[in-house]
Amino acid sequence: MSNSFRLGVLGSGKGSNFAAIADAIAAGKIPAETAVVLSDVEGAGILSHARERKIPAQFIPPGKFRTKLDEESEPAFVRALQAAKVDLVVLAGFMRVLKGDFLRAFEGRIVNIHPSLLPSFPGLEAWKQALDHGVKVTGCTVHFVDAGVDAGPIIGQQTVPVLDHDTPESLHQRIHAAEHELYPRCVAAIARGGISVQGRRVIWQKS
Ligand code: GRF
Repeated sequence: MSNSFRLGVLGSGKGSNFAAIADAIAAGKIPAETAVVLSDVEGAGILSHARERKIPAQFIPPGKFRTKLDEESEPAFVRALQAAKVDLVVLAGFMRVLKGDFLRAFEGRIVNIHPSLLPSFPGLEAWKQALDHGVKVTGCTVHFVDAGVDAGPIIGQQTVPVLDHDTPESLHQRIHAAEHELYPRCVAAIARGGISVQGRRVIWQKS
């Protein structure tokens, strides 16, 4: 096993953010490797993206709840990440809220990407919330995960304009493109040891 910084990626969907991170690793822009990709959805695109890249990928049944992992599933996720010796858990479209034991197992080492400029529009379909609210600028946020929903210290944000003719789909697409730039940049900074957390503030050291 190499000594590099090891990512464990969790996702429920297409996996375009994971693909962007994997491509950035392959291009030498992130000093890390993806140790494992896990999903709560058996046919999720993120698992195919991983297998195409010869990265270990595993479906773990989420159990009986709709929005969180149950008491068998949560330890199974934790065990798989620990077995892969991950340094950072990267949530990339993982559609379940993580609870106490999971958070304690990887305290301060879980990051997420959210499709709005937090703290505006936490929760589901944030791009639609932004459009419905009438904001002129929205974007995406990478943040540490704590016990709140989309609430932990903010690592990075990228803005996206809301255009007059936007539909939820067109706005979501523009946000997605911004995510694919922001997430690899933030993961790279963490992998290099280039950020520190002071309360709610995440400070980037100059490189
Ligand atoms: C992204 O929009 C992200 O902000 C949200 O889930 C979506 C995941 O998309 N958390 P993908 O699976 O990475 O394409």
